[in-house]
Amino acid sequence: PVLVVDFGAQYAQLIARRVREAGVYSELVPHTVSAAEIAERNPVAIVLSGGPSSVYEPGAPTLDPGVFELGVPTLGICYGFQVMAQALGGEVAHTGLREYGATDAALVGDGGVLLAGQPAEQNVWMSHGDQVVQAPEGFEVLAATAVTPVAAFGSAERRFYGVQWHPEVKHSDFGQRIIENFLHRAAGLPADWNSGNVIEEQVARIREQVGSARVISALSGGVDSAVSTALVHRAIGDQLTAVFVDHGLLRKGEREQVEQDYVASTGVRLVTVDAAETFLGHLAGVSDPEQKRKIIGREFIRAFEKVQRELVEEAKAEGEPIGFLVQGTLYPDVVESGGGAGTANIKSHHNVGGLPEDLDFALIEPLRTLFKDEVRAIGRELGLPEGIVGRQPFPGPGLGIRIVGEVTADRLEILRDADAIAREELSAAGLDGEIWQCPVVLLADVRSVGVQGDGRTYGHPIVLRPVSSEDAMTADWTRLPYDVLSKISNRITNEVREVNRVVLDVTSKPPGTIEWE
Ligand code: XMP
Repeated sequence: PVLVVDFGAQYAQLIARRVREAGVYSELVPHTVSAAEIAERNPVAIVLSGGPSSVYEPGAPTLDPGVFELGVPTLGICYGFQVMAQALGGEVAHTGLREYGATDAALVGDGGVLLAGQPAEQNVWMSHGDQVVQAPEGFEVLAATAVTPVAAFGSAERRFYGVQWHPEVKHSDFGQRIIENFLHRAAGLPADWNSGNVIEEQVARIREQVGSARVISALSGGVDSAVSTALVHRAIGDQLTAVFVDHGLLRKGEREQVEQDYVASTGVRLVTVDAAETFLGHLAGVSDPEQKRKIIGREFIRAFEKVQRELVEEAKAEGEPIGFLVQGTLYPDVVESGGGAGTANIKSHHNVGGLPEDLDFALIEPLRTLFKDEVRAIGRELGLPEGIVGRQPFPGPGLGIRIVGEVTADRLEILRDADAIAREELSAAGLDGEIWQCPVVLLADVRSVGVQGDGRTYGHPIVLRPVSSEDAMTADWTRLPYDVLSKISNRITNEVREVNRVVLDVTSKPPGTIEWE
């Protein structure tokens, strides 16, 4: 693989994705790995990511200098560029001059393999406080800015290159081209990886791992479980049973989508558990969000384990082995939980709706090396309906955490109707691609006065929370067209009983989270 060394900024995953988009498989490693560990992985190229620090700060992340002795083509980006400059004998200075955001970079000479053929000036995205003031010996300067005399350098002989800016972000004019030039031209790597290869590879692997055993998968209606289940089904057919727990906190049409569209397109054997009443019973009287999450998580596991026991009995009666569980873990989860880059687990509360950890079933995780867009591409290739593959994220606890206040059947119905209208209008306006997700929230304990027809009303507000985001860690509120907002508001207040007001959430994350609870 191409190894992307993570210096702890938010850009490393993005770099890994861009490398894959260029047709070369990549993985992340923490900057603490030794040169020997890197060599063991047989990297075809190395990319050093940006980082939050200055190379001069005490405790600044470092890299084993032996990495530069491996003879592997290497690209340094931002902080990685400075680490490279320093390790190879160049000079990095803290000049007090900074560059943030859009900056003009000018080619020096012909720009080398990285920048050759690009315009004399290009708009690039910068974020740094220190400067490389002198390139290491044997390196050519390839670009400069008004502030930074060495904004890119390279050594064709050693196949080492570096740029001060961030080619992985879309705001850098030729960013993807630079990454491709490094991979294809400097490192000589062919563009022969795509997420489609993963299907064949995983099918073979799953067959080998499972043998003749029976396998269980939990479907949530979301993309990850839908694709991992379909992939396992492709490998072992009816040895797999998918379990779908209807906890009564789903949105309108979601159960049908799984029971009809998903089953029709995959042929998966599905068991649905009708648990709505049980969940509602346990949620009665509870309005604290964390408490709700706990109850929903616990009940989910109970419901799932019950079916699991039944399937184990069934397998025993038929004399078949059973013992595998499918999980839709993605690469960012692996990285964030320390499996990749050694960073802390930030979102522990987000595994609500996940499976118990002490099951004595072995896990099958066919999406463990993949990013979300790759998972979607595989889902499409497996023939899953667009309604499932293109679905926006939806939290495991479902509408349970979108009713601020106690969850009741009545309130769920109100929220379901309002949410369906919002989704319908956003899709009709062609806005799905611009929105990461749009929670629709019922403020069940708030009432406000309205007037409808000739009468005074005293109803509840519905909140629209459209956000744009790359990864849900940070988000901005989406600037939706007024006419679309107006249509949603009109329809909700006219068509949904008890709702007499629609409000728009214009808070970014941070400080607000995406969900209200
Ligand atoms: P927040 O609200 O923390 O949400 O900004 C970030 C992303 O996580 C989703 N989310 C959850 N997903 N269980 C889940 O499976 C949860 O308890 C949960 N809470 C938030 C949220 O929809 C957003 O995509």
